[in-house]
Amino acid sequence: MTRQTGEPMPTDWPVQWHEVIDSTNEEARRVIAAGRASPGWIAAREQTAGRGRLSRTWISTPGNLFASALFPLARGVAEAAELPFVAALAVAEAAERLVPGLQARLKWPNDVRVNQAKLSGILIESVTQSAQVWAIVGIGINVRHAPDSLGQQVTSLASQGAAPGVNAETALEALREAFTAARILHSQGFDLILNHWLARAEALGERIVVGLPAGPVEGIFDGLEPDGALRLLRDDGQLSRVSAGDVRLVREG
Ligand code: BTN
Repeated sequence: MTRQTGEPMPTDWPVQWHEVIDSTNEEARRVIAAGRASPGWIAAREQTAGRGRLSRTWISTPGNLFASALFPLARGVAEAAELPFVAALAVAEAAERLVPGLQARLKWPNDVRVNQAKLSGILIESVTQSAQVWAIVGIGINVRHAPDSLGQQVTSLASQGAAPGVNAETALEALREAFTAARILHSQGFDLILNHWLARAEALGERIVVGLPAGPVEGIFDGLEPDGALRLLRDDGQLSRVSAGDVRLVREG
């Protein structure tokens, strides 16, 4: 797919596959630091030091997909802050294409879940090099395996009924298509991304606990601010804006 400007879209960006690498996000950082960055995908069959959000480790068993999209951001860090929603939407749509009948839901800000179990993790980073801001959109999709994860249920495309032919390569193909569609929508307005995200949102109108550095806060998930911040209606009637944190659904215990 090509935009009218002729600018290549994520479907057409080259993919650099690695058999084993520490982390595809780290490799993207090295490419930027070396002054060799151009839009593309870095993918690996296995990661030895996969990184997750909040300094966690991302267990990277072969058979799953580990990929990072690397691309320049015209609107800089403001655009980077919107990418968790764009990426989560793309992963949800790719997963549904790969497994007919699957229903992917989104937990703020960018967890993709099926039947309340985590299917994918997304780690967005941005790096400024010579006044250009580069996005690194790191995506892990549990394709064939659901590695144990402390404190939460996990699932994979295989355990949700994916055909044996669904593997890391076919998952990346579906992801590239879906990421292109999501970036086109994004170029038409971040509000469109948020509307699509909300249509898949988990726990909207329900009680949630948000883990914040100062401690957990409980309330009702009341919606999203125009910048994607979570609106939390607290028991004292106050509305809080949450820009970063971990969400847990109270009904899940
Ligand atoms: C999370 O904690 O939910 C985010 C996990 C992100 C994992 C992906 S796998 C590809 C990329 N490389 C990494 O080291 N992390 C991301």
